[in-house]
Amino acid sequence: MAVYISPLTEGFGASATGFSIRDGLSESDFRDIELALNAYGVLVMPDQPLDDEAQVAFSERLGPLEETLVGAVGAGSKIVRVANVLPDGTLKDPDSQQALFTRANFLWHTDSSFKATPAKYSMLSARELPRAGGGDTEFVSTAAAYDALSPDEQALADRLIAIHSIAWSREKFAPGASSEEQRRRLPPVPQALVRTNPMTGRKSLHIASHVMGFEGMSDAEGQALHDAWLERATAPDRIYRHRWSPHDAIIWDNRATMHRATPYDETGDRRIMIRTTISDFGPTVRDGAIVEAA
Ligand code: OGA
Ligand code: MN
Repeated sequence: MAVYISPLTEGFGASATGFSIRDGLSESDFRDIELALNAYGVLVMPDQPLDDEAQVAFSERLGPLEETLVGAVGAGSKIVRVANVLPDGTLKDPDSQQALFTRANFLWHTDSSFKATPAKYSMLSARELPRAGGGDTEFVSTAAAYDALSPDEQALADRLIAIHSIAWSREKFAPGASSEEQRRRLPPVPQALVRTNPMTGRKSLHIASHVMGFEGMSDAEGQALHDAWLERATAPDRIYRHRWSPHDAIIWDNRATMHRATPYDETGDRRIMIRTTISDFGPTVRDGAIVEAA
């Protein structure tokens, strides 16, 4: 087997074909996939029918998997169910905290940057898609966002430490979208604003709706700066919108991209996506100083 990589847009994202995750991948095919993921930021893998076991086994080759957040369906396992359907098959109450929590994925974000050790990659597979359509996922490149900054802005960004908080992004989206336990167990954490990919050497601007401010700046000043950068990074012509087909799986590099969910008929249709999340090397800030992966 051979892995074929074909770019999806001019700037980032590629599709990867020619292999079967379920049948197993040679070490060299696997390396090609990881290199392409680091080069393109988003890798769409069509025609990969997966169950949880196959997805976990493949994801674990990319690095250690996160355990699912407190208060989410599947907490304590290595699987996140991103769905409007509960494990017993009934639809979530659209006004429940869990439904609001999932719907807050409509905000541009990176996964788990609100944890001391953020997510490196995420893998999302389509298990059941809305029959009437909708529920697309959009991506942008934060490496392109960094490149688009002026030299002065890059110099500023290089030394900034951002404060990420899940309670901040959830409550901003809708009051009550986070639970008391989540707020207590997931306090704000510092993250390097600029990440350097150790495989490619390319820098990216690690912004996300979880950012509530920057160290050394007032909250208002920090939010204004962040929101201006976010707006530039997510201009319509920078977006890759993925319309899911059955058996699609996507892996993305959270260090170099942001993504967001889009609406579908949550009360009349069903959408079940399964995510596995690969941890980064560790905290990106230690003792107040930015650290990078070796
Ligand atoms: C995620 C996510 C978007 C979607 O799983 O991390 O943001 O379209 N999903 O479901
Ligand atoms: Mn996400």
